[in-house]
Amino acid sequence: ESRQNHEPSTSSPLTERPRRLRRTRALRALVRETSLRPDQLILPLFVHESPGEAEISSMPGVWRQDVTRAVERAAHGQELGVSSVVLFGIPSEKDELGSGAYSEEGVVQRAARELKRQLPELTVIFDTCLCEYTSHGHCGPLHLHGPGGATVDNDAALALIARTAVSQARAGADVIAPSAAMDGMVGAIRSALDANGFHDTAIMSYAVKYASAFYGPFRDAADSAPAMGDRASYQMDPLGGYREALREARLDVAQGADFLMVKPALAYLDVLRSVREHFDLPLVAYNVSGEYAMVKMAARAGILDERRVVLESLGGMRRAGADAIITYHALDAARWLREA
Ligand code: PBG
Ligand code: ZN
Repeated sequence: ESRQNHEPSTSSPLTERPRRLRRTRALRALVRETSLRPDQLILPLFVHESPGEAEISSMPGVWRQDVTRAVERAAHGQELGVSSVVLFGIPSEKDELGSGAYSEEGVVQRAARELKRQLPELTVIFDTCLCEYTSHGHCGPLHLHGPGGATVDNDAALALIARTAVSQARAGADVIAPSAAMDGMVGAIRSALDANGFHDTAIMSYAVKYASAFYGPFRDAADSAPAMGDRASYQMDPLGGYREALREARLDVAQGADFLMVKPALAYLDVLRSVREHFDLPLVAYNVSGEYAMVKMAARAGILDERRVVLESLGGMRRAGADAIITYHALDAARWLREA
């Protein structure tokens, strides 16, 4: 009888057989160390001033939306268990000083008031930067005669960023997420928030943010590519190492950050792990636009199984040390996690 063909040898020298714990779905789930839940995901929303919505061609499934549609999308996320959003504004007018970023009637300020009114339980995070609002696309005002030509004037940027954060807090921000990569950014925001009575508004610092080519689709989406030059004099060198990453994190902790972030995620999982091991603040991974676009395009071409690749990648970020993940896959992932 065939069973005898499979009778194991009684003299096997193998005592350790990891496969014993992979035998069934239930055993695999029992020993799984990494978890991924919808409420660990943060949904990015691009809010524009034109009516209606338009899909972003380099990011299929992601939309620039008016306030009404953005609220609908956030509500849909909440139904799926995604309880946080991060807002990016696409103003219809830009200027040298990015004044749309700190206008009380700015597009994200209006969106936040509406989100808070209709979805009071939602955590509203603001990306705090000037590049979506400046005519030149840099993350702060330009200092035209700096060493090496035009460069962002760090300390002039701080005042505008702090002002932006206060206007966002007034609009109902739960969390301010500064992404400009300016020195002293977190401290400037913390003192401005405190001086205006916003002691309970948290800061999620893009502490470890690289000058990455993976932001390409975002800059299409937000129309925020620098008109000249690049961001290499303020964002970090991709091949910089752990010392620089830990130093940036340490400076932001000292200035009052409540969360740290590493961005992008996939090419920097080792950095994420290192920051995790050196600091006790909640840690966020930003699964950026280029990472999203690669998976989306490959899935559309029938090359990858989107659902499995997304859950595997987000799970990898959690395993590397992320408590939460900003991801354009948030709604799909939440739906897949609920089905699983
Ligand atoms: C603004 C900002 C950027 C991203 C988040 N906030 C663009 C940049 O720094 O150039 C990128 C997000 C993404 O690629 O998904 N500074
Ligand atoms: Zn910026």
